Amino acid sequence: MRTIINANYSWNFENKLVDLPHSLSMLDESYFKNSDVTVKGTYTKTFCLDLSQVKDKVVVLRFKGASAVCKVFCNDKHVKTNYCPYNEFDVELNGYELIQNSKAVYEIRAEVDAKEDETVPPFGYQLDYLCFGGLYRGVELLILDKEHIKLLNVTGNMAGEVRIDLQTTEKEPSVTYELYDPRGNLVLKTSKKEELKVESPQLWDLGKGLLYKLVVKYKDDELSKTFGFRDAKFTTEGFFINGRKVKLFGANRHQSYPYVGYAMAENLQIEDARLVMKTGMNIVRTSHYMQSTAFLDECDRLGLLVFEEIPGWQHVSKDPVWRERVVENVRFMIQRDKSHPSIVLWGVRINESPDDDELYSKTNELAHKLDPSRQTGGVRYLPNSHLLEDVYTFNDFIHNGKNQGLRDPKAVHKTSCPHLVTEYCGHTYSTKRFDDELHRQSHALRHAKVLNDMFANPNICGCITWCLFDYNTHSDFGSGDMICHHGIYDMHRINKLASFAYLSQNSEAPVLELSSLVDDGDCAMNAILPNTIFTNADSVRLYANEEYLGTYTPDTKNFGALPHAPVQIPYYFEKRLIDVGFKNKKDRDFLAYMVEQAKVDPSGKAIKKHALKILLLALKVKKSIPDFIQMITNIQSFTQNRKPIWRFEAIKDNKVVKTQVIDPDAPLLFNTALNTNVIKLSDWDTYQVVQIKIFVTKEGCSTILPYFFDSLCVSVEGPLELYGSKSLVTIVGGTASVYLRTTQKTGEARVLLHSSKLGDKTLNVTIGD
Ligand code: GAL
Repeated sequence: MRTIINANYSWNFENKLVDLPHSLSMLDESYFKNSDVTVKGTYTKTFCLDLSQVKDKVVVLRFKGASAVCKVFCNDKHVKTNYCPYNEFDVELNGYELIQNSKAVYEIRAEVDAKEDETVPPFGYQLDYLCFGGLYRGVELLILDKEHIKLLNVTGNMAGEVRIDLQTTEKEPSVTYELYDPRGNLVLKTSKKEELKVESPQLWDLGKGLLYKLVVKYKDDELSKTFGFRDAKFTTEGFFINGRKVKLFGANRHQSYPYVGYAMAENLQIEDARLVMKTGMNIVRTSHYMQSTAFLDECDRLGLLVFEEIPGWQHVSKDPVWRERVVENVRFMIQRDKSHPSIVLWGVRINESPDDDELYSKTNELAHKLDPSRQTGGVRYLPNSHLLEDVYTFNDFIHNGKNQGLRDPKAVHKTSCPHLVTEYCGHTYSTKRFDDELHRQSHALRHAKVLNDMFANPNICGCITWCLFDYNTHSDFGSGDMICHHGIYDMHRINKLASFAYLSQNSEAPVLELSSLVDDGDCAMNAILPNTIFTNADSVRLYANEEYLGTYTPDTKNFGALPHAPVQIPYYFEKRLIDVGFKNKKDRDFLAYMVEQAKVDPSGKAIKKHALKILLLALKVKKSIPDFIQMITNIQSFTQNRKPIWRFEAIKDNKVVKTQVIDPDAPLLFNTALNTNVIKLSDWDTYQVVQIKIFVTKEGCSTILPYFFDSLCVSVEGPLELYGSKSLVTIVGGTASVYLRTTQKTGEARVLLHSSKLGDKTLNVTIGD
């Protein structure tokens, strides 16, 4: 029997008792310093076990993540130092205990240092992310029999074969295997490894997280692993899951959160996996390191694919110790995560590093040895670099808003090999939710263009955008505020417009998101921009003050390869032009162009240049020039005394499935969304985090108001406390986020929000056993 004790509670840290996950430093959301992150801290905790409990046992302390370097002492003796900020590591305590009053006493001291030690990957040079310090994932105390299972990993394939890696304290152990199907029914019990096979297994697949469980019994010890039966392969013809070709599209995820760095409760790590899925994506890359098992477990359950990689960023050191640690990281990654069916590719090269055949032959060899069932990738931005991996995983930042979305694989590597785009957009178009309309629209269109070109090219397996959400970074990167605003969501996981380029592709619920709220004053020279509408509807119907202004269909000319091309409304008065007799589209577009020219060029030069054409068009509708100009002026204007009420209707199968109404006089709405309002405290959650997202919209339209700013007072009653957030929060660009955590007490919690512009709101959260 193994005993597992939750060791997350009550560590002594700077004379305070803290629970894990814990961050060495609590930070501001932006404008903090690198040195606020690269700090040290010491955690201590004493375990007292009955001698009878540890007699003939092996006592192990398991750290699930300690950043960056963690030195562990027991009763003042150094036991182990761990040199990876992202792995799980065990510290064996036998021989270090003190015997006091029939108790075995283990006084643990964990010295954690977030300094960027150049002998430790990912450090040594610049790094476009921050490695937040702390005991940030949790600790377990394991009491194991002398004879126990040391390692178990399980994989399954479509043919129903089960492959296991089993290490016990004995070389040739005699064990029993029990295999349970996704409903928990025992399907097989055997002591022979060769008999581990399932006829017609229920396959793990995209969106179908069907998980089997293998229980291994060895002497008195028992260990289980969940796994899935599935085949996954990257080929020159694309990516195949269970023999079916699927185009992959997804995002890169950093594991950091505002204020608390890496120290976020498992329930929010799980929310991130759900967010990727809700965005309609089918793959996520754990850039640029191994991430929490809570996140990976959820990917398994959701049927969401993962590309996991070792820590690093562009830099390869010559230091043999550093290089050895890179190889060790491959071992850590595969040994911890091999059983996850969601993982379809191992990243065994430092992200965007130069070729280094000596190092990368080792990482590839080790990955293939530890896991023959999976291919390897190694992310690079260099065309024609040495390919020691199975898949050319390429960061393709070619798109500039005007040109091709992606390079053709043939232009990237001479040899034919599977090609997966692992980053695009990112720094090429940093975007905030409160940037102006043109910027936000352009950001979203860039994503749509790359996605379209990926779908159009049969030789590209898929594309993974940079990135899912904004992240805190070093001062050498980002917008000077310690943030890279590269996400399709902001740091609080709140949508930017670009997220709808993805959301509209795969959603069962109707999507109708406008790039423009038709406010001409937001643009240079009062220009009215085309409205790009991300939707999965068949068409969009447009009205101004109930005047029908036409039905617009998806822009398949520019985005024909997308499952759902956006609808574009280039200008709003086209139907009015048709109604007065302009049947020719070219004439209408010309007139729309002239209207915009009249705004941007008040000297009238452009109009004069086209005087003859204007005259001909006036004749067409039998008007004198002054009458014609008056007519066009009236036609293009939707403002008499006040702006009109615009209505956009998404039409699917001839029915209106979603509507957005833009009414300048509509009241403001104070919307809130909680990740949960009923929490069950289980033993394993030291604490759970409640995130309240606040969105300000106007009644009738779900678009967040991009220029709404206000302060928000937060007060909490009952068993929840602020986590990172302060009691005064700022609503920025129409949104804010408040993080709270449970306190180990049950009951009803009330969160009161007060904004001078929006009023008050009370939210209730029930916390039970
Ligand atoms: C890539 C890099 C990412 C991130 C991104 C920003 O070159 O791999 O980690 O820095 O640029 O666009």
